Amino acid sequence: MPAGPHPSVEAYAQRRARVATQLQRESGALVLFGGALQTRANDTEFRFRPDSDFHYLTGLEEPGAVMVLRPGPDGGDLRFSLFVRARDRDAEIWSGRRIGPIGAVEQFGASEAFALAELDERLPALLDGCETVYLPIGRWSSLDASLAKAVSSLRRRNRDGRTPPLRYGEAADLIGEDRLVKDAAGLASLRQAIDITVAGHTATMRQAKPGMWEYEIEALLEYEFRRRGSTGPGYGSIVGSGDNATVLHYVDNRDRVRDGDVILIDAGAEWDYFSGDITRSWPVSGKFSGEQRAVYEVVLAANLAGIERAVVGSNIDAIHEACLDVLCEGIAELGLIESLTGPGAAAQIREEGLYKRFYMHRTSHWLGVDVHDAGRYTLGGKPRALAPNHVLTVEPALYIAGDQRDAPERFRGLGVRIEDDVLVRAEGPEILSAAAPKQIDDLEAIIGSG
Ligand code: GLY
Ligand code: MN
Ligand code: MN
Repeated sequence: MPAGPHPSVEAYAQRRARVATQLQRESGALVLFGGALQTRANDTEFRFRPDSDFHYLTGLEEPGAVMVLRPGPDGGDLRFSLFVRARDRDAEIWSGRRIGPIGAVEQFGASEAFALAELDERLPALLDGCETVYLPIGRWSSLDASLAKAVSSLRRRNRDGRTPPLRYGEAADLIGEDRLVKDAAGLASLRQAIDITVAGHTATMRQAKPGMWEYEIEALLEYEFRRRGSTGPGYGSIVGSGDNATVLHYVDNRDRVRDGDVILIDAGAEWDYFSGDITRSWPVSGKFSGEQRAVYEVVLAANLAGIERAVVGSNIDAIHEACLDVLCEGIAELGLIESLTGPGAAAQIREEGLYKRFYMHRTSHWLGVDVHDAGRYTLGGKPRALAPNHVLTVEPALYIAGDQRDAPERFRGLGVRIEDDVLVRAEGPEILSAAAPKQIDDLEAIIGSG
C-alpha cells in the first residue's frame, strides 16, 4: 500500500456503527455488493474499482464481495458478515491474490465471513426478522436476484416461524447522508487526494509547452498522480486547449496546443477512492493576452466571491448566486454580448438568463468518495444548509465558443474555469486546493519553469 494516510480497520468500523444506528431505528439490515469486473473488450477487463458505498464501509477492494450489516436486537452486537471469493490457487495464479473468508475476518474485522457460493443459502437467516432491507435498489441484478430469493424463502417458511422483511429501503440515501459529513479518516484521504491533485496540476504548469499534444499533458498530469501512489484519476481528465476548453466534458485530449492558447485542465487524483476535483486555466505560453486576462479576472473574482459564501448556514444556491452576480457584471463590462453594454446591461443579462450562453452549469457539488458525491442537496424542498465538514467545489467559468457569433471575435475560442475544493468549517471556508496557483502573477511565474 502506498505511503500516506489510510483509514484504519477501526475507522471503517466507526462508519458501520454510525450507519447501524440508523438501521436500528427501523429494525433494518443493509446489504451491499462490492461490484463486478467490467468488460473492456472481448476478454479483457477494466481495472477493478469497488463500489463507493461498499468500500466506504468495508475498505475491501475485491470484485464480487457482498456485505450484510445487521444490528443486534436492542442495539446488541453489530453483525458484519462478508461473502468473498473462496481461495483458489489456480485462479490466483492467473488473476491475482484473494483475501478469502479467513482474511476477511482477520484483516477487515468481519464478525464472520463465507465463500460467495454460500450467499443464497445463508442470506435468509441473516435477514430473518428485520423489517427493512436497505440495498442499492435496481443497481446490481445479481444482488436483486439473491435478495428476491431470500425474501421469498422467508415468506414460504413463515409458518415455521421465519419473518420476512416488510420493505426495501435505498442504501445510497442512507449511506450518502453519512458520506456527506466527512469523518476524520475521510478528510485525511480527501486531503491526500487533493494534495496529489495539486501536485499534478503544478507539474503540468511547469512542463507544458506550446506545440505539445493535449494527451502528452494529460500523461504528465497522470504520471504525477500515479507516482505519488494515487490509483489514478477519479474521473476522465479534461485537458482542453483553445476552443476545446469550451466543451464542458472534453476528454478526447487529442489536439495540439498552440502558442497563445489558454488550456483548461480539470482533473482529480483518487486516494483510497476519495477524489480531488480541481480546474485551472492558464496560458501555455506563460502570458495571458489582454482579452484572456480580462476574462480570467472576472472568473477569478467569481471564484473568490463563491468561496466566501461557503460558510456554515449558507447553501449551494447562495454560492451560485454570488458567482452569477460577478459573472453577469463581467459579461456586461467585457461586452461579451455586443448588443448589450452600458447601464442596466448586467441586470438584464442576469434576469433574462443571457449569461447561460457563457455559463451553462451550476457552481458547486459535494465532493468525496465520488467526484459528484453522495448526500441530499435539498431538505424539505429547500437547499440544504452547509454544515461543518461538508466538502464542495466552487467552479465558476466563462466559455466563449469559437462559433459564438454574438460575442466579439477576439474573445472566441476561450474557456476559463477555476475550480476549488472547499471544506466548510465553523471558522470559515478552508480551501483544500489552495496550493494550486490561480492568481495571475503566481501562474505566470510557474508556467514553463521546468
Ligand atoms: N470534473 C467534473 C466536475 O467538475 O464537476
Ligand atoms: Mn467539479
Ligand atoms: Mn472538475
